[in-house]
Amino acid sequence: MLSGPPGRDEVAFRVRRIGRHEGLRLKALRLQALAEAPEAFGESIAEAEARDEAEYMARARAASDGDRRAWFLAEVVDGARSTGDDPAAVGLAMGRRRPPDECMVFSVWVEEAARGSGVGRRLVEAVADWARTWGARRLVLWVFRSNRGAIDFYLRLGFIVELGGSDAELGAPHDAVAMHRAL
Ligand SMILES: CC(C)(COP(=O)(O)OP(=O)(O)OC[C@H]1O[C@@H](n2cnc3c(N)ncnc32)[C@H](O)[C@@H]1OP(=O)(O)O)[C@@H](O)C(=O)NCCC(=O)NCCS
Repeated sequence: MLSGPPGRDEVAFRVRRIGRHEGLRLKALRLQALAEAPEAFGESIAEAEARDEAEYMARARAASDGDRRAWFLAEVVDGARSTGDDPAAVGLAMGRRRPPDECMVFSVWVEEAARGSGVGRRLVEAVADWARTWGARRLVLWVFRSNRGAIDFYLRLGFIVELGGSDAELGAPHDAVAMHRAL
């Protein structure tokens, strides 16, 4: 588990892999991300809402273990924001294996109030740590060209923009740039 110390105006948080029974939580967080940052993602909130709960349950189960895919949650450590037994979640990220040795990074999102505290960085590093366990050599992602903040964020994390190649070509019709970072 990764954790971040609180600083000035910062959020104390931890990052962990999703649990196999957290499908409904995954759905709620994904809908929150799509409501808050609809311009950042390829999926619409209507599409995400239309998926039934069984699908989210299956997704969480599949992402909770093994080396095919993994969702990570960032949760505040401060108990004051907890709901019921769950600490409040403030971020999400997903990694998916692309055989043989690349890891795609998807759906990176941090709640607006928690941004600027290192949560996004820790989420991406959690994906990277998981990917190293099965021998990944590279992280790869797409980001919309208009999402300048996210592009700058990934540049700060050491990603570089792909100027050519199949991933750049795949992104181009969607106005998305491909970025990668060696592991
Ligand atoms: C992009 C996003 C995940 C960043 O999360 P965050 O928790 O605020 O990022 P961090 O605090 O971990 O920042 C890590 C580094 O990136 C930099 N950074 C973060 N957001 C930035 C921005 N909008 N512009 C420029 N730099 C930025 C930080 O300054 C920090 O740099 P440093 O470590 O050198 O000081 C968050 O803004 C977000 O969820 N945006 C909406 C959804 C989105 O666009 N997702 C990406 C889809 S591809």
